[in-house]
Formats: sequence, structure tokens, C-alpha cells
Amino acid sequence: MSNPLTLREGGVADIDAVAELHARSWRKTYRGLFSDAFLDGPVFAERRDLWTRRLRGWDRERNAVLLAESQGALAGFAAIMLDTEPEWGARLDNLHVDPDGQGRGVGRLLMQAAGRWTVGKAPRLHLMVFDGNAAARGFYDEMQGECVERRDVTVEDGTRLVELRYLWRDLKVLTNTRR
Ligand SMILES: CC(C)(COP(=O)(O)OP(=O)(O)OC[C@H]1O[C@@H](n2cnc3c(N)ncnc32)[C@H](O)[C@@H]1OP(=O)(O)O)[C@@H](O)C(=O)NCCC(=O)NCCS
Repeated sequence: MSNPLTLREGGVADIDAVAELHARSWRKTYRGLFSDAFLDGPVFAERRDLWTRRLRGWDRERNAVLLAESQGALAGFAAIMLDTEPEWGARLDNLHVDPDGQGRGVGRLLMQAAGRWTVGKAPRLHLMVFDGNAAARGFYDEMQGECVERRDVTVEDGTRLVELRYLWRDLKVLTNTRR
């Protein structure tokens, strides 16, 4: 990436920017998985509600949204939460890189940051990815995640999909890295 990336934890002031990128990424990535009516309709409002609830109400000791920025512009983000299925460790949720900036290391940087955030708080890290999201599965395989579970899920627009759980049993896989 030509401009250096910076990392920080997001707050209330970031609700709109995170919701905008989240909705834009869903519109592109989940086309054909979620209904067009949802993606072309209320997806931004639905994501904005989610981020408003989270960033106004979160216990910041147990949850974070990690933002990767390039010259102050949001390049990607990921949520990390300790209380969602904690038997699997910390949950990485909603990892999204700006569609115009993918393949330049932003996703790797955010996963490494999530691993560092988790150290000392939970022993492992996990996430859910749709079976139909082959590109993200390829990325998580590259990040050395282990696919450990497959289950049905009803998503925000009522569609039934299959999701896979990826697990990192050892956080060092994410934190001990030269890149
Ligand atoms: C999946 C996603 C987060 C990856 O982020 P990214 O910034 O594009 O990925 P990076 O550039 O950090 O890639 C890191 C490594 O993974 C590899 N990689 C990336 N996508 C890959 C793919 N589809 N298959 C195999 N390897 C892949 C890269 O080649 C790179 O390896 P390298 O450093 O040896 O070249 C991003 O593409 C994205 O936001 N996708 C849309 C939203 C989404 O699906 N999110 C996941 C929801 S569960």
C-alpha cells in the first residue's frame, strides 16, 4: 500500500464511517447470498443501528472495533468480542477491507491486531464465515485458521445460509509474524 497504515480502536465518532464501509462491503461480497432487496435497501440503516448500539453500549474492556486507516481514511475494520461463544475464545467479527484496497495487507494487519488485543484476555480466537464466501475462506486458510465446525444460520434478511467456524488455537500464529 502506498500510504502507511495506522491502527486504532474506534469509538462513537466512527459509527457512520464503519457502517458505510460495512454496508458497501456487504453489498459487494454478499451479492447472491443475501437478498437483493436487503442489499439494495436497508443494509446501511441496519448496519448503522448495529454500530450505534455497539459503540454507545459496549464494555470497552471486553469488546473493540479495530480500525486500519490510511491518511485518516478508513481502510478496513474488525470487531473483537470476548463474550460471544467464549468457550471458543475471543470472537473476531465483521472483518472488512475497503473493496478498492483489498489484497494489500490490510486484512492481515487487522487479524494480527485482533490477535494482539486478545493476548491475556482469552486463550484462542475464532470467527464465523459463510460457506459461500470462498475468497474469505481462502484468506483465513492463508492465515492458518482451522475450520472446526459447520452450521446453518438465519441471517439479517431472513435467508438461511451455512457458516463455518475458523479457530486459531494458538494466538502466536497471528502475533508471531514478520509481516
Ligand atoms: C477477506 C479480506 C478481509 C482479506 O483482506 P485483504 O486485505 O484483502 O487481504 P490481505 O491483503 O491482508 O491478504 C493477506 C494474505 O492472504 C492472501 N489472501 C487474500 N485473499 C485470499 C484468497 N481469497 N485466497 C487465498 N489467499 C488470499 C493474500 O495473498 C496475502 O498473502 P501474501 O501476504 O502471502 O500475499 C478482504 O478481502 C475483505 O474484506 N473481503 C470482503 C469482506 C469479507 O468477506 N470479509 C470476511 C467476512 S467473514
